[in-house]
Amino acid sequence: MCGIVGYTGHVQAAPVLLDGLRRLEYRGYDSAGVVVQDEGALKMVKANGAVSHLAELTGGGRALEGVCGLAHTRWATHGAPTDTNAHPHLSEHGLFAVVHNGIIENFAALRAELEAEGVVFRSETDTEVVAHLLERYYDGELKSAVMRTAARLEGSYVLGVVCAREPGKLFCVKEAGPLIIGLGVGENFFASDVTALVSRTKNVIYMDDGEMAELTPERITVYDRTGRETAKSVSHVVWDIEAAEKGGYEHFMMKEIMEQPRAVRNTIEPRIRGGQVEFEGFSMTREELESFDKIVITACGSAYHAGVVGKYVIEKLCRIPVEAELASELRYSDPIIDEHTLLIAVSQSGETADTIAAMRECMERGARCLAIVNVVGSTIARLADNVIYTHAGPEIAVATTKGYTTQLAALYLFAVWAAGLLGRAGGERYDGLIASLRALPSLVQRSIDLNVHVKYLAERWHELGSLFFIGRNIDYAAAMEGSLKLKEISYIHSEAYAAGELKHDTIALIDEKRLVVALCCQSALFDKIVSNIREVKARGAKVLGVAPEGNRRIFAEADDVLFAPRGEELFSAMTEIVPLQLFAYYVAAANGCDIDKPRNLAKSVTVE
Ligand code: AGP
Repeated sequence: MCGIVGYTGHVQAAPVLLDGLRRLEYRGYDSAGVVVQDEGALKMVKANGAVSHLAELTGGGRALEGVCGLAHTRWATHGAPTDTNAHPHLSEHGLFAVVHNGIIENFAALRAELEAEGVVFRSETDTEVVAHLLERYYDGELKSAVMRTAARLEGSYVLGVVCAREPGKLFCVKEAGPLIIGLGVGENFFASDVTALVSRTKNVIYMDDGEMAELTPERITVYDRTGRETAKSVSHVVWDIEAAEKGGYEHFMMKEIMEQPRAVRNTIEPRIRGGQVEFEGFSMTREELESFDKIVITACGSAYHAGVVGKYVIEKLCRIPVEAELASELRYSDPIIDEHTLLIAVSQSGETADTIAAMRECMERGARCLAIVNVVGSTIARLADNVIYTHAGPEIAVATTKGYTTQLAALYLFAVWAAGLLGRAGGERYDGLIASLRALPSLVQRSIDLNVHVKYLAERWHELGSLFFIGRNIDYAAAMEGSLKLKEISYIHSEAYAAGELKHDTIALIDEKRLVVALCCQSALFDKIVSNIREVKARGAKVLGVAPEGNRRIFAEADDVLFAPRGEELFSAMTEIVPLQLFAYYVAAANGCDIDKPRNLAKSVTVE
């Protein structure tokens, strides 16, 4: 997704802006640009390609004089990735420059209107209409020009605006996308993500949809949708910039895999007090919980896969019907949702457009919404009725790892809390579940330690055409995530299948060229999955088994084995995914893929 940075202060803006862009690269992009005010003019450099290329073109930013400006990384939606389509975009007479994250749904009509007035467009983008509208509406008063322009736009638009005639002044607008303001000393910032700011300030303001802000080096003024000044609280970022750096690892993904024990611990431990699960900022009576006739978990991608695991675990412990729904489907399905539905929205970034839209749809129908989110102050966190934060810390790699396992931790906590509240788990059973939750961080570490051979297996299997991940029950949910991990960073096709479904269609695809990854961690179903392993082996496939530590039968069935440490089987998705994360990492490395920034993907999908 696009990344935006704005700076106004007392040092040269371009180097600060470029550093901010570097810290937004993980969001995925294909071009970048920077603009600064310089003695009544706007000086801009933009280019297709990496931020490093932009830095070369501008001498690390030193070639652009000025203490106020904007910068942008573009993930192309309208118009190919070219120099011309890169942001910022200038108005016809160079009075305004604009950067934009989102999609302006009515840009074609606006473009036609402006062209009819003789405006000559330079790019194919939707964004350029904003620059021309600003110039049309500007009569010397910047705020009204911004408000009048924003009033014409439909869709999602997070905007950064700078005017040649307003020295030191920036404007930003938030509508359906992330925007954070950073408060400095004699300098102020805005950006799409805290990581772009945290090296210069930890004091931030999380903007809400419909708001806009005027920034000068000394002052920040936030306005609501009507243009009235509105007070905003200042939050303090609790992590340091080092948390958003590689820390000696070759890739962020490996660092974040290795951070999982601590991330899971930071998510679980603060919620267990006196042997009970307690959530800060979220509580419910037994009557309230019993008033729900179902729980719907909605999310996208890996967060959806966490939701599928959550379905199995919550149903098993609480005996409440749980549906796991893809947000992109739920939002358009005319869902049967009302005040008797508890919606759980799961999202690492808290900015995924489909998840936000599904939440709005369900909340309008009366659902109460609990969000499980990693990014503090994100749109989903602010939209929901209640939030359970995962304390994974910043996750930079596009492929989520600690984001996913801490989502599982939060769902497990919710399941145990709900089972206790409903009287479905009490006494020794409840205490046992609490002990099992607290054991998870060390089990995740053991899962890393048990699988030091995974690099060898990955290098042995890395030239595969297509893989199948099979499992039953919770293992099937884990298989979905194992398959997604491999696909998104190694570009090798794979599919997750409910093992019992094999003989209905997929077995037709099994031959001696296939590798089947069989997840075998549900003891009650072990014999069933073994029969599936024998079915595919009988047709020539090779099998990589994922089995509980100490299981010896798997060696007689599978060609190779990865191990998951033994613990509460209900929580096994968290431990069995770790070797599959590592398997995907090493296969991608063997194939020379860009592990942290896989092609075509973005860290947060903030557009539909
Ligand atoms: C996971 O590795 C992918 N990056 C992607 O599927 C991701 O899980 C999905 O886009 C949801 O993102 P969110 O958790 O930030 O909402």
